[in-house]
Amino acid sequence: MKFDVKAGDLRTRKTDCLAIGVFAEGTLSDEAKAIDDASRGAIKALIREGDFGGDIDSCHMLHSLDGIAANRLLLIGLGSQEKYSAQSFRRGVSSAVKRMGHSGSSDLTLSLPTPDKEDARSLARSLATAAHEALYRFDGLKSGDKVTPKLKQIVMLLADPERVTLATHGLSEGTAIGEGADLARDLGNLPANICTPTYLADQAKKLALESKLDVQVLDRKQMQALGMNTLLSVAAGSDEPPKFIVLKHLKGNAKDAPIVLVGKGITFDTGGISLKPGAEMDEMKYDMCGAASVIGTMQTVARLRLPINVIGVVPTTENMPSGKATRPGDIVKSMSGQTVEILNTDAEGRLILCDALTYVERFKPACVIDVATLTGACVIALGSVGSGLLANDDELAQEVLAAGLSSGDRAWQLPLWDEYQDQLKSNFADMANIGGRAAGTITAASFLARFTKQYRWAHLDIAGTAWRSGKDKGSTGRPVPLLSHFLIARAGEPAAPPKSVRKAKPRRSR
Ligand code: BES
Ligand code: MN
Ligand code: ZN
Repeated sequence: MKFDVKAGDLRTRKTDCLAIGVFAEGTLSDEAKAIDDASRGAIKALIREGDFGGDIDSCHMLHSLDGIAANRLLLIGLGSQEKYSAQSFRRGVSSAVKRMGHSGSSDLTLSLPTPDKEDARSLARSLATAAHEALYRFDGLKSGDKVTPKLKQIVMLLADPERVTLATHGLSEGTAIGEGADLARDLGNLPANICTPTYLADQAKKLALESKLDVQVLDRKQMQALGMNTLLSVAAGSDEPPKFIVLKHLKGNAKDAPIVLVGKGITFDTGGISLKPGAEMDEMKYDMCGAASVIGTMQTVARLRLPINVIGVVPTTENMPSGKATRPGDIVKSMSGQTVEILNTDAEGRLILCDALTYVERFKPACVIDVATLTGACVIALGSVGSGLLANDDELAQEVLAAGLSSGDRAWQLPLWDEYQDQLKSNFADMANIGGRAAGTITAASFLARFTKQYRWAHLDIAGTAWRSGKDKGSTGRPVPLLSHFLIARAGEPAAPPKSVRKAKPRRSR
């Protein structure tokens, strides 16, 4: 898909399809008013007849309207005008692109209203990211003819030519984010018989080659030498060899401490000897979505050539039952030297993450963010709307929350109070790997907190947000948008736009 920004009058814009917004109860946006005037009341008539009301996620197509140059006019419902926000804008873009994906149009021009406090750069970023998500398909494993969508180009139309430079920059950012999320979605959707730890390592090597990143893949022997025994205790039951992937994008100052991203890469989680029930177990192929989001974000960072140091770390293995598998009650010594009583082999995510979190101490990181489909409890707490956020540093937490808001890939903070640590007490080791039914997301993070004392750290529990269940089952690519916004903000303002334009957006205002 090609994205472009154009300035001009929407009435005279030649395009297969022009998409404009209508608010709830048929309130016309400025663009809709202009078209309504040009077409002698065609939109108002339609609303009066009750054919379209402007509800969010709805749309209505009109053909060959008098008074405009476009072949088709697509009315996009934006919901309440008072509540109109970047989030409504993204939903509007998404319904327009989904509607046009299966139409005869080869180009789509979008002219939706600008929400308050949004500049052209962030709006364009949202547009490209949302369009990628709406266009995403995963049909490579189906035989039969592939439907190639006719839509080839999406144009963001602005009335004000002065906003074009900023918007163009935002579009390239949004494209890189959308492509990073596409990669994460692909890796997530691949089944566990294809997407093994070795496959993930190969994909990381491929990305490193394409994008000029450094890559290192440790094998079981090297992990043994490092004392990564909790990670290896998860891998014990699997015939697939575990891998430990390190991807480096070092484009900042050599003396700047790196930002480290760590992603849980369980390519299939059966629960191990603490076997999961059968229903919906197929969804545990998604238990590597944290890893996928780290790899996807590294692609985004590389494509944007962000002038910062970022290191992506992915511990990856299957969690399988077998005669060699770890038993409930087994005690292992982690790389940090702390011992863990594994009371439940299904609480395996924290066991691979804790060794990775110890490993990354060597980078003397500015901060570490780990991303994991860690607890079913997080799905109960936040559903599929927000990711769980826990952190040992409040400034970092605020920064992550802000990146969630600006990208629409939102997170919500839960507390990491010391009292929760009591639930991890073990009679036989330094800690147990489970903390009982209460506050499951917090006790999982409290476990990780014991391994992150050397640096600022934030943890994202994406169990509810990384994929959708049911008839739209599929990986979402989250939290690539959140992580990318976080890193773009850390990189500061781009060198690309001239100084006069740069002033339009205050540095890190979010
Ligand atoms: N990968 C799961 C978490 C999960 C479960 C994500 C369901 C999405 C949907 C994780 O490894 C796990 O099994 N967690 C256990 C922890 C428990 C044994 C303390 C859970 O949440 O049930
Ligand atoms: Mn598990
Ligand atoms: Zn798991």
